[in-house]
Amino acid sequence: MKKDIESAVDIRNLVELFYDKVKQDPLLSPFFTQYIRVNWEKHLPVMTSFWENAVFYNGTYAGNPIQTHRRLNQLFPMTADHFNQWLFLFTSSVNELFEGEKAELIKQKAFSIATIMKMKVTGADPFSTSH
Ligand code: HEM
Repeated sequence: MKKDIESAVDIRNLVELFYDKVKQDPLLSPFFTQYIRVNWEKHLPVMTSFWENAVFYNGTYAGNPIQTHRRLNQLFPMTADHFNQWLFLFTSSVNELFEGEKAELIKQKAFSIATIMKMKVTGADPFSTSH
Protein backbone atom coordinates (compact mmCIF):
# COMPACT_ATOMS: atom_id res chain seq x y z
CA MET A 1 0.00 0.00 0.00
CA LYS A 2 1.46 3.34 -1.05
CA LYS A 3 1.04 6.47 0.98
CA ASP A 4 -0.96 9.51 -0.08
CA ILE A 5 0.52 12.93 -0.91
CA GLU A 6 0.84 14.66 2.45
CA SER A 7 3.48 17.36 2.29
CA ALA A 8 5.58 19.71 0.19
CA VAL A 9 8.37 17.10 0.32
CA ASP A 10 6.02 14.56 -1.29
CA ILE A 11 5.19 17.06 -4.03
CA ARG A 12 8.87 17.80 -4.57
CA ASN A 13 9.59 14.06 -4.96
CA LEU A 14 6.75 13.78 -7.45
CA VAL A 15 8.00 16.76 -9.46
CA GLU A 16 11.52 15.27 -9.52
CA LEU A 17 10.34 11.86 -10.72
CA PHE A 18 8.15 13.53 -13.35
CA TYR A 19 11.06 15.58 -14.75
CA ASP A 20 13.36 12.54 -14.71
CA LYS A 21 10.85 11.03 -17.14
CA VAL A 22 10.41 14.25 -19.15
CA LYS A 23 14.18 14.62 -19.64
CA GLN A 24 14.32 11.12 -21.17
CA ASP A 25 11.27 11.63 -23.35
CA PRO A 26 12.05 12.29 -27.04
CA LEU A 27 8.77 14.17 -27.59
CA LEU A 28 8.96 16.48 -24.57
CA SER A 29 12.62 16.90 -23.65
CA PRO A 30 13.40 19.36 -26.53
CA PHE A 31 11.04 21.92 -24.96
CA PHE A 32 13.24 21.94 -21.87
CA THR A 33 16.69 21.53 -23.37
CA GLN A 34 16.52 22.83 -26.96
CA TYR A 35 13.73 25.34 -27.64
CA ILE A 36 14.52 26.91 -24.29
CA ARG A 37 17.16 25.95 -21.79
CA VAL A 38 15.36 25.48 -18.50
CA ASN A 39 17.15 26.44 -15.32
CA TRP A 40 16.20 23.39 -13.24
CA GLU A 41 17.26 24.97 -9.96
CA LYS A 42 14.65 27.64 -10.52
CA HIS A 43 12.01 25.58 -12.29
CA LEU A 44 11.66 22.72 -9.77
CA PRO A 45 10.71 24.98 -6.83
CA VAL A 46 8.26 26.87 -9.11
CA MET A 47 6.58 23.60 -10.07
CA THR A 48 6.55 22.39 -6.46
CA SER A 49 4.78 25.54 -5.30
CA PHE A 50 2.37 25.37 -8.26
CA TRP A 51 1.28 21.85 -7.22
CA GLU A 52 1.26 22.74 -3.53
CA ASN A 53 -1.23 25.47 -4.40
CA ALA A 54 -3.32 23.05 -6.42
CA VAL A 55 -3.43 20.35 -3.71
CA PHE A 56 -3.02 22.11 -0.37
CA TYR A 57 -3.93 25.70 -1.33
CA ASN A 58 -0.81 26.99 0.43
CA GLY A 59 1.93 27.37 -2.16
CA THR A 60 3.51 30.65 -3.12
CA TYR A 61 2.97 30.19 -6.85
CA ALA A 62 1.79 33.37 -8.55
CA GLY A 63 2.73 32.91 -12.20
CA ASN A 64 0.76 32.70 -15.42
CA PRO A 65 1.27 29.23 -16.93
CA ILE A 66 -1.01 29.87 -19.93
CA GLN A 67 1.15 32.82 -20.97
CA THR A 68 4.37 30.80 -20.46
CA HIS A 69 3.08 27.99 -22.68
CA ARG A 70 1.74 30.41 -25.32
CA ARG A 71 5.29 31.72 -25.60
CA LEU A 72 6.63 28.16 -25.83
CA ASN A 73 4.05 27.37 -28.50
CA GLN A 74 5.44 30.25 -30.57
CA LEU A 75 8.94 28.83 -30.34
CA PHE A 76 7.73 25.37 -31.26
CA PRO A 77 4.09 24.45 -31.96
CA MET A 78 2.58 22.33 -29.20
CA THR A 79 0.19 19.59 -30.24
CA ALA A 80 -2.33 17.28 -28.60
CA ASP A 81 0.38 14.58 -28.68
CA HIS A 82 2.64 16.72 -26.47
CA PHE A 83 -0.13 17.31 -23.95
CA ASN A 84 -1.19 13.67 -23.95
CA GLN A 85 2.38 12.52 -23.34
CA TRP A 86 2.82 15.15 -20.61
CA LEU A 87 -0.32 13.84 -18.88
CA PHE A 88 0.74 10.22 -19.29
CA LEU A 89 4.12 10.90 -17.65
CA PHE A 90 2.55 12.95 -14.87
CA THR A 91 -0.11 10.33 -14.09
CA SER A 92 2.48 7.51 -14.21
CA SER A 93 4.69 9.43 -11.76
CA VAL A 94 1.80 9.92 -9.32
CA ASN A 95 0.84 6.23 -9.59
CA GLU A 96 4.41 5.06 -8.99
CA LEU A 97 4.71 6.96 -5.72
CA PHE A 98 1.31 7.55 -4.19
CA GLU A 99 -2.26 6.44 -3.74
CA GLY A 100 -5.18 8.07 -1.98
CA GLU A 101 -7.46 11.06 -2.07
CA LYS A 102 -4.79 13.70 -2.80
CA ALA A 103 -3.17 11.44 -5.39
CA GLU A 104 -6.52 11.25 -7.22
CA LEU A 105 -7.02 15.01 -6.80
CA ILE A 106 -3.67 15.95 -8.31
CA LYS A 107 -4.24 13.68 -11.33
CA GLN A 108 -7.69 15.19 -11.83
CA LYS A 109 -6.28 18.72 -11.61
CA ALA A 110 -3.47 17.88 -14.03
CA PHE A 111 -6.06 16.57 -16.48
CA SER A 112 -8.29 19.67 -16.17
CA ILE A 113 -5.43 22.15 -16.45
CA ALA A 114 -3.87 20.28 -19.38
CA THR A 115 -7.24 20.26 -21.16
CA ILE A 116 -7.74 24.00 -20.70
CA MET A 117 -4.12 24.73 -21.55
CA LYS A 118 -4.29 22.63 -24.71
CA MET A 119 -7.37 24.58 -25.80
CA LYS A 120 -5.96 28.02 -24.98
CA VAL A 121 -2.46 27.42 -26.25
CA THR A 122 -3.11 25.42 -29.43
CA GLY A 123 -6.68 26.50 -30.13
CA ALA A 124 -7.70 22.82 -30.21
CA ASP A 125 -11.24 21.80 -29.33
CA PRO A 126 -10.81 19.94 -26.00
CA PHE A 127 -13.87 17.77 -26.64
CA SER A 128 -12.73 16.50 -29.99
CA THR A 129 -10.79 13.22 -30.11
CA SER A 130 -9.46 13.87 -33.61
CA HIS A 131 -6.53 16.00 -32.52
C1 HEM B 1 2.85 19.95 -23.87
C2 HEM B 1 3.13 19.78 -22.60
C3 HEM B 1 4.02 20.73 -21.83
C4 HEM B 1 5.30 21.13 -22.09
C5 HEM B 1 6.20 20.68 -23.24
C6 HEM B 1 5.68 22.06 -21.04
C7 HEM B 1 6.90 22.69 -20.94
C8 HEM B 1 7.18 23.72 -20.07
C9 HEM B 1 8.37 24.54 -20.11
C10 HEM B 1 9.54 24.38 -21.10
C11 HEM B 1 8.26 25.47 -19.14
C12 HEM B 1 9.20 26.65 -18.88
C13 HEM B 1 10.17 26.43 -17.78
C14 HEM B 1 11.03 27.68 -17.59
O1 HEM B 1 10.62 28.78 -17.98
O2 HEM B 1 12.10 27.53 -17.05
C15 HEM B 1 7.03 25.22 -18.43
C16 HEM B 1 6.58 25.92 -17.35
C17 HEM B 1 5.49 25.55 -16.59
N1 HEM B 1 4.63 24.51 -16.87
FE1 HEM B 1 4.62 23.38 -18.52
N2 HEM B 1 4.63 22.21 -20.17
C18 HEM B 1 3.60 21.41 -20.61
C19 HEM B 1 2.37 21.23 -20.02
C20 HEM B 1 2.06 21.70 -18.78
C21 HEM B 1 0.85 21.39 -18.06
C22 HEM B 1 -0.26 20.49 -18.58
C23 HEM B 1 0.94 22.04 -16.85
C24 HEM B 1 -0.02 22.05 -15.69
C25 HEM B 1 -0.92 21.11 -15.46
C26 HEM B 1 2.18 22.78 -16.83
C27 HEM B 1 2.62 23.60 -15.81
C28 HEM B 1 3.66 24.48 -15.89
C29 HEM B 1 3.93 25.55 -14.93
C30 HEM B 1 3.13 25.85 -13.67
C31 HEM B 1 5.06 26.22 -15.38
C32 HEM B 1 5.75 27.42 -14.72
C33 HEM B 1 5.26 28.68 -15.36
C34 HEM B 1 5.87 29.88 -14.67
O3 HEM B 1 7.08 30.13 -14.87
O4 HEM B 1 5.15 30.54 -13.91
N3 HEM B 1 2.84 22.54 -18.01
N4 HEM B 1 6.38 24.15 -19.04
